Amino acid sequence: MQRTVAVTGAGGYIGSVLVAQLLKSGYRVRAIDAFFFGHQSLRCLRDHPALEILQCDIRNFPPGVFDYCDFVVDLAALSNDPSGDLNPELTRSINERGRIASVVIAERSGVKRYIFASSCAVYGEHIGSDVDEEFALRPLTLYAETCARAEEAVLSRNSSVFSTVSLRNGTVFGLSPRMRFDLVVNKMALDAYELGCISLAGNGVQWRPLIHVDDVARAILIALDAPDATIAGQVFNIGYENFQISEIAYQVWLASDSAPTVSFVDIGEDRRNYRVSFAKAEVRLAFRAHRSIGSAVSDIQEALRDGRAGNALCCHTVEWYRSLLAAKGTGLGFANRHVSGKTGLVGSAGPNRPRVSAR
Ligand SMILES: NC(=O)c1ccc[n+]([C@@H]2O[C@H](COP(=O)([O-])OP(=O)(O)OC[C@H]3O[C@@H](n4cnc5c(N)ncnc54)[C@H](O)[C@@H]3O)[C@@H](O)[C@H]2O)c1
Repeated sequence: MQRTVAVTGAGGYIGSVLVAQLLKSGYRVRAIDAFFFGHQSLRCLRDHPALEILQCDIRNFPPGVFDYCDFVVDLAALSNDPSGDLNPELTRSINERGRIASVVIAERSGVKRYIFASSCAVYGEHIGSDVDEEFALRPLTLYAETCARAEEAVLSRNSSVFSTVSLRNGTVFGLSPRMRFDLVVNKMALDAYELGCISLAGNGVQWRPLIHVDDVARAILIALDAPDATIAGQVFNIGYENFQISEIAYQVWLASDSAPTVSFVDIGEDRRNYRVSFAKAEVRLAFRAHRSIGSAVSDIQEALRDGRAGNALCCHTVEWYRSLLAAKGTGLGFANRHVSGKTGLVGSAGPNRPRVSAR
């Protein structure tokens, strides 16, 4: 029988790549998102018979939102440090309380497995050996702190009937239908293409764990399929390799046709500096990331050249949220609505409407 996955944050950078991979792998998908970045990212999948799209806020789910779902993949959040700092109360309400409410509703709805997209940012600064999943968390920002708290709440709900797992992703790179040019590799690829110049933050020696967005989606698919005994209640670091910022710039420079120049810029305070071990995911999930920085740079620059990607404001996460907050006020609110798909939970009263429980 076809299994159903609800994905929150499905219209986002990772979500839109994941939804395409899930549909290709034969899952039914309920794509849930506030669509703060618009509907464009799922547009080409919109008429897929196994896809249902709901526009709703994780802080205000409609009843029955996870009914008939076997799995939930939790991606919805304000997704980086600067966005998290724009309005601390909004960040706590979405990234912490919203994500905790989401896992509670999933558990009550009879979902079997809940996969939480966490971040290696929860490790903060660690000098010395590679950080594994047992290391103490030292979140340095509100984004990382709320991520750590929500992750803890998700893992605490693990039980024999509801398995929860956290995937701590490195910084993601690569082409996505909801493009993000605020991520280090993507930004360097854009600058090399548009400006003929790559800017290095700080002195270039800080370490970052990185991973391609296609590999993140693949890791989630593996986590959906893994036996409970392997995965329940576990945390996995998910990454490709650790790179110093200067090495990332070198890889982008190598892959760019334009022979860009390289310059250093002052980044103010950014103490994030850590190397991460990906051994646990490799040993226990047989997950190994494949896609390189060079291949991503080629994809991105080709998409920029042929117009599939562009340097729009919505590709710069914090600037986009800042403009939304200026336009809409601090709540980022809107009415929930069913966008497409046969079994709409919101605003649908037709014969295909599933049981909607009042909780
Ligand atoms: N991209 C990375 O480098 C990276 C690294 C580690 C962890 N993560 C985590 O992965 C997840 C997805 O990140 P992304 O890069 O795809 O970010 P993204 O900003 O592209 O996607 C997040 C999506 O969540 C939606 N969203 C935000 N608040 C919402 C709300 N209240 N209700 C419903 N939807 C809401 C947004 O509209 C957006 O589509 C996030 O939790 C992020 O913290 C991302």
